Amino acid sequence: MSLNAIVTGASRGLGRALAVELARAGAKVVLVARESEALREALAEAVAAARGARGEAHAVAADLGDKEAVHRIAGAAAALIGPIELVVHNASTLGPTPLPLLLDTECEDFERVLQVNVLGPFRLSKAIAGGMALRGRGTIVHISSDAATSAYPRWGAYGVSKAALDHLGRSWAAELGSLGVSVLNVDPGEMDTEMHAAAIPDADRGTLQDPRAVARRLVALVLEPRFENGSRVSINVAAGSP
Ligand SMILES: NC(=O)c1ccc[n+]([C@@H]2O[C@H](COP(=O)([O-])OP(=O)(O)OC[C@H]3O[C@@H](n4cnc5c(N)ncnc54)[C@H](OP(=O)(O)O)[C@@H]3O)[C@@H](O)[C@H]2O)c1
Repeated sequence: MSLNAIVTGASRGLGRALAVELARAGAKVVLVARESEALREALAEAVAAARGARGEAHAVAADLGDKEAVHRIAGAAAALIGPIELVVHNASTLGPTPLPLLLDTECEDFERVLQVNVLGPFRLSKAIAGGMALRGRGTIVHISSDAATSAYPRWGAYGVSKAALDHLGRSWAAELGSLGVSVLNVDPGEMDTEMHAAAIPDADRGTLQDPRAVARRLVALVLEPRFENGSRVSINVAAGSP
């Protein structure tokens, strides 16, 4: 398979599983996360998965909340793997944990959640989607959450950011759909990851989805698109949907 892809938040959890799954399918993948040992380990796993599938994996260390970093990510990714055909905006922060009530949420913490979860994806898509439109094809995936559509106490800043991300996806689809750019908002469902453990430490992990199973479902969705542009899709591995 020939596909040039960026996956943000690829050092662990769903993003790492997605990068590995794409590399295993033969894609050229750029993993983005902040500099860490976890990112180096994720890269090694993706490189190993790419071997034999004629895929490639590279890493660009950057903070999605840093506006100066976004053009560096887009430029480095294009230099490493060529024109970007898929970007998965998966990186996300909850803000401080334990999750505070809105009345206890510092404005600066709310701002940081929006920087990482909404403005980072917007800036990165802005740097990439013009090229997709000129070439007449490309896919943008936003990783959302059920907190985008349901209001839960203590999930305010994160939920607002995911609701905004969903609408950003619909807006990109409305503007770029006729130019061949597809946008999908995906609620991955509850997964056994560091983020889930930080948010709900006493959760029964046995009830949570394996991010690798979610990643397999998501890659299949991207490779065989069958959803209306700008759709919101919920993945439920146990129920076999979508
Ligand atoms: N887990 C769930 O149950 C669940 C449910 C619904 C939706 N989601 C969504 O699914 C996606 C993946 O979640 P997950 O559970 O896999 O999360 P996770 O294990 O916490 O991983 C988050 C990833 O995002 C990266 N990241 C965070 N802040 C970043 C920043 N400022 N710049 C660059 N990278 C950053 C992290 O890398 P570094 O920290 O190393 O930079 C890490 O690779 C997220 O969008 C999340 O909101 C998760």
